[in-house]
Amino acid sequence: MKLIITDDYKALSVASAKMVADTINQKQTTVLGLATGSTPVGLYQELISLYINKQVDFSHVTTFNLDEYVGLSPGHPQSYHKFMYDNFFNHVNISQENIHIPKGDNPELEEECAQYEEKIESVGQIDIQVLGIGENGHIGFNEPGSDPNGCTSLVKLSESTVEANARFFGDKELVPRLAISMGLKTILDSSKHVLLLASGEKKAGALYQMVYGEVSEDVPATFLQHHRNVTVIADKDAAKKLPKSDLIAGL
Ligand code: GLP
Repeated sequence: MKLIITDDYKALSVASAKMVADTINQKQTTVLGLATGSTPVGLYQELISLYINKQVDFSHVTTFNLDEYVGLSPGHPQSYHKFMYDNFFNHVNISQENIHIPKGDNPELEEECAQYEEKIESVGQIDIQVLGIGENGHIGFNEPGSDPNGCTSLVKLSESTVEANARFFGDKELVPRLAISMGLKTILDSSKHVLLLASGEKKAGALYQMVYGEVSEDVPATFLQHHRNVTVIADKDAAKKLPKSDLIAGL
């Protein structure tokens, strides 16, 4: 696991965007795995700037998002569909048919999960999978207790995730309790390179556990210790608990 620590969130966003853009510039048909939440917003803004400055071209890129809330239509203000279009897809030259996000309003949820997993398998590999991390160590919506051999499936949000995400909905009661999420196995097996981003002191405990904790279902992100190619970019606040000797100084 490679750990890169930046001074602040802006530097984290710039460094992660450079890594994603370099991947695309080496392979035009890059398959990107994408995450939502507030952490990757800066990455998306930097990628949009690189696109405007003609330093990256998304026309042959394919994307797969990690997850979506169950019951929200793509147009719902808090759906991850809308988040992705508002924060990224509407601002770059990505082809609509290359964008994949689980459909949380499909009445056939099990079928939706199976088809999503098949689509990922059909592209062969995700070249670079962007991940955030939950305060409880979740990745995607794989909460503590998730099966490390799990594929894309219907998952229940933990109480702490509902509380953490309530800020987007205004009211905790409005946060959906179910989601579709790529499974831990999907993430670990399909990703050639995992790029995990962590920002802010609230993530310091989860980040420490992910890097140094015992690999356990209690902290799903610890399974990334088993992956051969993980880069973590964290800002100083998120890296607070990591021993200084292990860190690579910011880019
Ligand atoms: C949600 C998403 C995760 C994300 C996490 C952290 O639960 N499903 O993919 O990593 O939140 O979000 P934030 O970056 O806002 O802290």
